[in-house]
Amino acid sequence: MNSELLKKLTEEYGPSGNEEKIRDLIQSEIKDYVDEIKIDKMGNLIAMKKGSGKRIMLASHMDEIGVIITGITDNGFLRFSNIGGVSPYVSIGQRVIFSDGTIGIVGMEHLEDIKKLKLEKMYIDIGVKSKEEVSKRINIGDVASFHSSFTTLDDFITAKALDDRIGCFIAIETIKSLKTSPNELYFVFTVQEELGLRGAKTAAFSVDPDLAIAIDVTSTGDTPKAKHMVVKLGNGPAVKIKDKSLLSHPTVKNLMIHTAKENQIPYQLEVLEFGGTDSGAIHLTRSGVPSGVLSIPCRYVHTPSEMISKKDVEHAIVLLTKILEKEI
Ligand code: CO
Ligand code: ZN
Repeated sequence: MNSELLKKLTEEYGPSGNEEKIRDLIQSEIKDYVDEIKIDKMGNLIAMKKGSGKRIMLASHMDEIGVIITGITDNGFLRFSNIGGVSPYVSIGQRVIFSDGTIGIVGMEHLEDIKKLKLEKMYIDIGVKSKEEVSKRINIGDVASFHSSFTTLDDFITAKALDDRIGCFIAIETIKSLKTSPNELYFVFTVQEELGLRGAKTAAFSVDPDLAIAIDVTSTGDTPKAKHMVVKLGNGPAVKIKDKSLLSHPTVKNLMIHTAKENQIPYQLEVLEFGGTDSGAIHLTRSGVPSGVLSIPCRYVHTPSEMISKKDVEHAIVLLTKILEKEI
């Protein structure tokens, strides 16, 4: 597995609406392997491999969660709000990084009752003493992501933004490993998923696919006293049956299951009781698109230390490659 590439992808800065750096990185990785690349008006990266058969769209989102600056106090602390699902409890004591490389620490006001913790009771400390000094570097509306390093743990990997750079990584590696396909393939790297599947919506309209698969992370139930869920790290990529945004189309679900069985690739079935992915927007495009999701089991989603299994990633790449090489 190309860990160097995954390290670059996860450590790069790319909160929703600020996907440029990650898009440049992906573009340079895939440009020699596809027939056409374009960036649409929303900022989605759409890479195409020509074919005479069905139009298949794969979607991985480039953006990650983050925080957005809403105010600066006279003594140089930054007030902030969330970009996507950011928990105040997860944020305490974390480092965040802005696009210019400025690092800040998330602190909180003194609270008698920790249950009252909300983002508006918190602030970012970039280590300066006044509003004037902050203003030289950071403005209202500037955005930061969590700041943490990519680490390998035996069979597992932990990093920030595995949601959904792992999806981008799998799409890149699938593009590289594909030999021939009878289908016309659209690898779409979407923007603003964390704000409500926004890039996928416009990209699906322009691609107008016959079938779509999103690649994204899903939760697991394999940690002490976790909320019940059968998905486990290391048991194979998960074929989504349902989440809050989508009921997977039987054609796409069965395509993934049959291809996994034919090739002895381990897989699991996923019912997620919350959350959504790009396929939630894609399947409602135009007159409807049969859509599904290949999910990568992930612990600690939306924290600076998301965790996945390398084996699940390797199996996902093989499974997608086999699917795309089929006559659909
Ligand atoms: Co997410
Ligand atoms: Zn995601």
